[in-house]
Amino acid sequence: TVRSFATTSSRQNAIKTVTVIGGGLMGSGIAQVAATTGHQVVMVDQTDDILGKSKASIQKSLQRVVKKKFAEDPKGGEQFVSDILGRITTQTDSNAAVANSDLVIEAIVENIDVKKKLFSSLDKAAPQHTIFTSNTSSLPIGDIAVSTQRQDRFGGLHFFNPVPMMKLLEVVRIPATSDETFNKLSDFGKAMKKTTVDCKDTPGFIVNRLLVPYTIEAMRMVERGDASFKDVDTAMKLGAGYPMGPFELSDYVGLDTMKFILDGMEGSRLHPEGYATYPFNFPLNSDTPSSYEGKRGYVRYTCSAIIDRP
Ligand code: NAI
Repeated sequence: TVRSFATTSSRQNAIKTVTVIGGGLMGSGIAQVAATTGHQVVMVDQTDDILGKSKASIQKSLQRVVKKKFAEDPKGGEQFVSDILGRITTQTDSNAAVANSDLVIEAIVENIDVKKKLFSSLDKAAPQHTIFTSNTSSLPIGDIAVSTQRQDRFGGLHFFNPVPMMKLLEVVRIPATSDETFNKLSDFGKAMKKTTVDCKDTPGFIVNRLLVPYTIEAMRMVERGDASFKDVDTAMKLGAGYPMGPFELSDYVGLDTMKFILDGMEGSRLHPEGYATYPFNFPLNSDTPSSYEGKRGYVRYTCSAIIDRP
């Protein structure tokens, strides 16, 4: 029937080989999950030394999975890890790495010029059919896509940290993204066993658009002396059922990342002025006494880094 033909043809077109550019926190998680779900992965970073560390961190993460899933079957566990690692190759030359790629997922440093330079070069090196995506949290996907001649085959795949644990994937389309591209990206997300949500190229997408202003308002409450760090965290955990309070979460995400997201929201053309919680009306004073001890102990420092704006 026509229907089964469509199914076969979409399967034939499905994304099989993935190039992940950037082997940092996000890139190594993305590479791990893509390989675990049967995709062939090329992971790219600037040096072999970094790539060695990325692969080691993937191996460590897989070993945690094995401990749980293969407790009774150590041989099976070993096989599981070596099969997955066997599907991940590494490269320092990003142009060479896309030669045989169905999909590029970029997860390099959050800098628009560096990202544009990368994509402009990949655009010449990659086959026609290759779809390009960015995992950016704060930059408009459309501003990155203009560096290529394939805006119909461009979109956003926004993963969450830690990638192997977090179920959600935001699939982002720009006005030029074709339906075919968008559907392929959604299908790929599902093949990675993520729950996908669709979103336009709007600042913060869905999750950060709602989560970041909430977190900033929590900081303002503390800076106004309305409540303590600890009590705000306790309140949101026990009163709203959040697994982490806003300060724990900020510490986990990294306040540098939070600042990037805020800057992206504020700086975006799409963004209305006077966004309710930004810029700060009550700048956090770096001397604000804090009873909150972050895991990495840098909440105070990073709060003041966020407001340290011209
Ligand atoms: P990271 O700093 O851990 O990793 C970035 C990696 O990219 C580094 O290993 C670096 O050596 C490499 N790199 C930089 N320039 C490169 C280039 N030109 N070619 C190849 N490799 C290059 O950063 P992280 O946290 O993994 O973030 C990466 C991207 O993911 C950013 O765009 C960020 O906004 C986004 N993101 C981050 C999340 C987070 O929770 N950290 C969550 C969702 C998205």
